[in-house]
Amino acid sequence: MNSTEIKIPKAVSSIFGKLEIRQVKMNCILHGEYLANQVFLGGKLKEISGCPKCHEEHLAQRAIDEEKRRKEETEKNRQARIKETRMPLEYQTKDFSTFITETESQRNALAMAKRFVNGWEKAKAGGYGLLFLGGCGTGKTHLACAIMLELLDKYACFYPRYYKVTEIFSAVRSTYQPGATTNDEETIKFFSSIQLLVIDEVGVQKGSESEKRILFSILDNRVTSKKPTILMTNLGIKDCGLVLGDRLYDRIRSKCVPVLFKGGSFRTPATPDVFD
Ligand SMILES: Nc1ncnc2c1ncn2[C@@H]1O[C@H](COP(=O)(O)OP(=O)(O)OP(=O)(O)O)[C@@H](O)[C@H]1O
Ligand SMILES: [Mg+2]
Ligand SMILES: [Zn+2]
Repeated sequence: MNSTEIKIPKAVSSIFGKLEIRQVKMNCILHGEYLANQVFLGGKLKEISGCPKCHEEHLAQRAIDEEKRRKEETEKNRQARIKETRMPLEYQTKDFSTFITETESQRNALAMAKRFVNGWEKAKAGGYGLLFLGGCGTGKTHLACAIMLELLDKYACFYPRYYKVTEIFSAVRSTYQPGATTNDEETIKFFSSIQLLVIDEVGVQKGSESEKRILFSILDNRVTSKKPTILMTNLGIKDCGLVLGDRLYDRIRSKCVPVLFKGGSFRTPATPDVFD
C-alpha cells in the first residue's frame, strides 16, 4: 500500500489537533486500483474514502430508483384521478390510440373528439360540449372516456365526472328518502357545477315527468353557467326532441355539437369457448 502525505495548514492543525490526509492506493474488487484519502486526526484514522467508481455507480443507481419512485407516484395519482371520474373500469384504458377508424363515421367521430380536446379552453369558456348519437356498441362511451383520459393527462386541474343518466335520477331521488343528508336542490346544484359532465345512456327509457324535470334543471343550469357537457344517446336526432322534450333538446342543441356514430356494434357475441 503506497502512501502520499498531504500537507494541512498549521492553523487547521492547531484547532482540531493534528489533521493529516494521506493518499493510499487501494484495490476495489469491481474496479481495481484507486487512490483513497485516509483522514487522521491526532494520529488516529478517522475516515477513509471508498472507490470513486463505486460511489459514482451508487449515485447513478439512486437517481434511477428516485426516477422509478417518481414515475410510480405519478401513475398512482393518475389512476386515482381516473377512478374519481367514475368512468366504468372497462373504459379506463380506452384511449384515442385504441379507437379503430375503418369507416368515415369512425374517422369523423375520432377527429371531433380530438378537436374537442384541443379546443378545451374554448369549450370551457363557452360551455360547449358534444352530443354523441348512435346505435349500440358504436364507440360512444369509448370515445367519451378517451376524451376524459386525454384531458386528465393534459390538465392537472381537470375534474370531469361520468354518470349514467339513471344514476343522476337515483341520486336526486335518494334525497327524498327519510334521513337523507342532502336535498334535491343541493344534488341538482352538484351536477350543475361539475367542470365537465359526461352523461351516458340519455333517453334509454322514456323517463317520467319528474326525471325529465331533473335532467332539464341540470342541463339548463349548465347551459346558462357555460359548463360543458358530453351526452350520449341511442336516439336519432329526430327522436331527441320527442323523447327529451323540445325545450330540453333546444338547449342541448345550442351547446352540444352532434356527432353521429354509424355502423354496427363492435361488441362480439359470446361463444361457448369463452369457458375453455
Ligand atoms: N371504433 C372502435 N375501435 C375500437 N373499439 C371500439 C370501437 N367502437 C367500439 N369499440 C369497442 O366496442 C365496445 C362497445 O363500445 P362502446 O361501449 O363505446 O359503445 P356505445 O356506443 O357506448 O354503445 P351503447 O350505446 O350500447 O352504450 C367497447 O369495448 C369499445 O371499446
Ligand atoms: Mg355506451
Ligand atoms: Zn469500485
